[in-house]
Amino acid sequence: MKFIVHTYGCQMNVRDSEAVAALLAAAGHEKAANEDEAEMVIINSCTVRDKAEQKAIGKSGNMIAAKRNGSKRLVGLMGCAVKRLGEDVFKLLPGLDFAVGPRRFGAIPHLVERCLAGERRILETAGDDEVPQGLDAHEQQGFKAFVTVLLGCDNRCSYCIVPDVRGHEFSRPGREVAAEVGALAAHGVKEVCLLGQSVLRYGRRNAAWFASDPPSLYKEPFPRLLEMLDKTQGLERIRFTSAHPGGCTDELVQAFATMPRVCRHLHLPVQSGSDRILKAMGRGYARAEYLAAIAKLRRFDPEFALTTDVIVGYPGETEEDFEATRSLMEEAQFDNAFIFKYSPRPGTRSAALPDDVSKEEKERRNQVLLADQEKRGLARNERLVGTVREVMVEGPSLRNAARWSGRDGGNRIVVFAPPRALRPGETVQVRITEAHPQILIGEALA
Ligand code: 5AD
Ligand code: SF4
Repeated sequence: MKFIVHTYGCQMNVRDSEAVAALLAAAGHEKAANEDEAEMVIINSCTVRDKAEQKAIGKSGNMIAAKRNGSKRLVGLMGCAVKRLGEDVFKLLPGLDFAVGPRRFGAIPHLVERCLAGERRILETAGDDEVPQGLDAHEQQGFKAFVTVLLGCDNRCSYCIVPDVRGHEFSRPGREVAAEVGALAAHGVKEVCLLGQSVLRYGRRNAAWFASDPPSLYKEPFPRLLEMLDKTQGLERIRFTSAHPGGCTDELVQAFATMPRVCRHLHLPVQSGSDRILKAMGRGYARAEYLAAIAKLRRFDPEFALTTDVIVGYPGETEEDFEATRSLMEEAQFDNAFIFKYSPRPGTRSAALPDDVSKEEKERRNQVLLADQEKRGLARNERLVGTVREVMVEGPSLRNAARWSGRDGGNRIVVFAPPRALRPGETVQVRITEAHPQILIGEALA
């Protein structure tokens, strides 16, 4: 059957969708060129905020409505919203053919068989400790790949539904990750991004290393994983996301400082700059500890790129709390920031608290932080004018096909005129001539 997968949400979902596409292809199905041609549509859903969930449910509803009379098109929903909703998913979407939770996506080819045999409204969700089948299935792809190293999350931040839907932490054995990365690199992948909700907790809940694994300079499991992957033939860049300040240990800093493939960028969600709110959120660090963690990174490399997530309008967030977030963002000098308006999620601890910051006030705080970040992003990028960045080429720029774009080690977007015929995945040196809040412009050196 010809299929298409639509993905909402984070990189984890992007990766799970890719694995599903690879598993379906292995089962003899074929990717559709577009939605009209698809005989099967799979929607991968997110539930981290209400709006995110609504988008995936809305899209599924449209796909079901578009089933022409008598058409055999299958519509399936996968991902986090399925686990949250359980059987209720069929109340919202009565015409759905199958629904499958985040740790059960490997079952999709089998569920499709069951649907083809006439079954409908199949629901499969996994237990909190299940390890999905097909975690290492990849499509034939470009020069970048995601690799899941840590499933689930055990942090239990007060507002976050992720642990409820993605289950307990499970770290894949280091040797299994190394084999997957090695195979990707052998197929031309130059950059991998290691994924985990709180990826620096790799190897904490279960052992990822065995006595028979090669010895390491590192005691901590995540730096040890980096050390092993840094030896991969043909691989040029290693990234990972998301991080928690608790994992910013001296060994991690040493890994950044000494391993040439490990990119000097960290996505380190701070969520708030107010100690009172951080405590209410159960984040496990105070403002000063967060700032100390990033100071360690910027000490050995002042250009170390830092990006973050912030929530505005958490229950009880006062103007003073908000101003503390503003000042923290200025002190931290983030290169980029994603701002989210608090959304109560059923079953989380904070959902029991009154959602007492008005919609308008959340919007205002959101806009203030975005405007601050726009200025800060520009100022930070201006400091890079005149420097030469090592840029991994992605392809023609979306806005102007005569120019190409790529990313530097800090994940900054760099746009330049191609000096010769280029291939995606190649590395070029680019001298920066112009700064914008979100991109750098430069000229490629011969
Ligand atoms: N409301 C708003 N934002 C949230 N996030 C997680 N849960 C919520 C919520 N209930 C944000 C956090 C997280 C990002 C992925 O989504 O900032 O880092
Ligand atoms: Fe949510 Fe905290 Fe886990 Fe991030 S670390 S996914 S915020 S529980």
